[in-house]
Amino acid sequence: MAEPLNCIYERVSVSGSGLILGIESSCDETAAAVVERGSRTLSSVIASQIATHARYGGVVPEIASREHLRAIVPVVRAALAQANVTLADLDAIAVTAGPGLAGALLVGITFAKALAFAQGLPLIAVNHIEGHIHAVLLHEREASSLDGAPVQDVTADDPALALVVSGGHTHLFLAESRQSGWRYKLVGRTLDDAAGEAFDKVAKLLGFGYPGGPWIDALARFGDPTAVHFAFAQMKTKLHLVGKTPRTKGARTSPIADLDPHFLFSFSGIKTAVLRYVELNDLRPDALARAASIPAGSRPPKTKEDALALCSQQVLDLIASFQHAVVGDLMKKAFAAAESLGAQRILVTGGVAANSELRSRFAAEAAKRRVHVAFPTLALSTDNAAMIAAAAWPRFLSEAFADTSLSADPTLALGH
Ligand code: KG4
Ligand code: ZN
Repeated sequence: MAEPLNCIYERVSVSGSGLILGIESSCDETAAAVVERGSRTLSSVIASQIATHARYGGVVPEIASREHLRAIVPVVRAALAQANVTLADLDAIAVTAGPGLAGALLVGITFAKALAFAQGLPLIAVNHIEGHIHAVLLHEREASSLDGAPVQDVTADDPALALVVSGGHTHLFLAESRQSGWRYKLVGRTLDDAAGEAFDKVAKLLGFGYPGGPWIDALARFGDPTAVHFAFAQMKTKLHLVGKTPRTKGARTSPIADLDPHFLFSFSGIKTAVLRYVELNDLRPDALARAASIPAGSRPPKTKEDALALCSQQVLDLIASFQHAVVGDLMKKAFAAAESLGAQRILVTGGVAANSELRSRFAAEAAKRRVHVAFPTLALSTDNAAMIAAAAWPRFLSEAFADTSLSADPTLALGH
């Protein structure tokens, strides 16, 4: 039986200043942050590998691990320096334990373990998906402390519906805070691609760089969202889901047949539909480039202006219609789940929560239905370590510390 790390530590104090160093390395961002009591960010440093992976059109796991190794020490140093604290001021170290890329996760975990051991600090393992949910809560606490409003946290009496929508995940959870810590119940998920993956794949087939979401977001506003009709299949019966194991990356979840089919997503079909539309209408990237008299070899475009110059109105309409359809599907199922489960608050988080159409349509729908919707700041929407340190705070209070056997769990599940 592995020994809990905190047994061998001298300084486990809840009465301290509550400073937690968070470390995140689950995918292509090496991040470290110092957060006080889960509610005040003293620093948040992110070393992005996007430029390194962009030339391959997606994240290459081996390169990600190598880049994390290079970045981890300077990133942690910078986070401490920006927070104006030293290792001796910390109360705990939190690290992402999964889900994510095994080699990438291991870099953060090994570093966090070594640091915790050397400093005599407790180590807290955090689920990356839970981190995304706490990004919203951290932002809400910070915003309310600025405008003096009381912090209204999510409680068991007032559960929230959390939509975690990123490049690796599209999950719906019912989230509630109990005396003993946070509880999550999975209520929906994608059966195949994550929504962010669909954004990335559609952008790639149109000739734009990685990650695709920001390109689609920037170009969609120039197109007609009603020009191309995309329909999503609605899973109607539980029967055909029995025994199905979705072929998705990311977290393990409960059997699909246990979930309400109305809250299941599927984004691989729309990617194929976009591809078919592109082929039928001869909108391949070289055709785009020819139309704009730009040599095909000069792609992908580097700026939004270059991208706009490359796109015919038909391509812009296609992009706008794709985004409109994906956002509409996320919205329909998230609001239906909230209503069916009696949640008056919806927390939308993960990289795709940075999408401008998603934010404005969710906000408008929430106002119409008189429910509360919250997002993280744009910086907290994509991967960062402040959300990891914030999610660790309730665990610190309940002394739910990791032991020396902590290792990477690429398919770590959240909730039940
Ligand atoms: O949360 P995140 O940084 O990493 C994962 O945990 O996956 O999310 C990255 C994903 C990518 O698929 C990216 O294309 C998408 O978030 N994304 C966006 C936007 N910004 C990032 N998708 C749509 N609109 C955006 N503005
Ligand atoms: Zn993420």
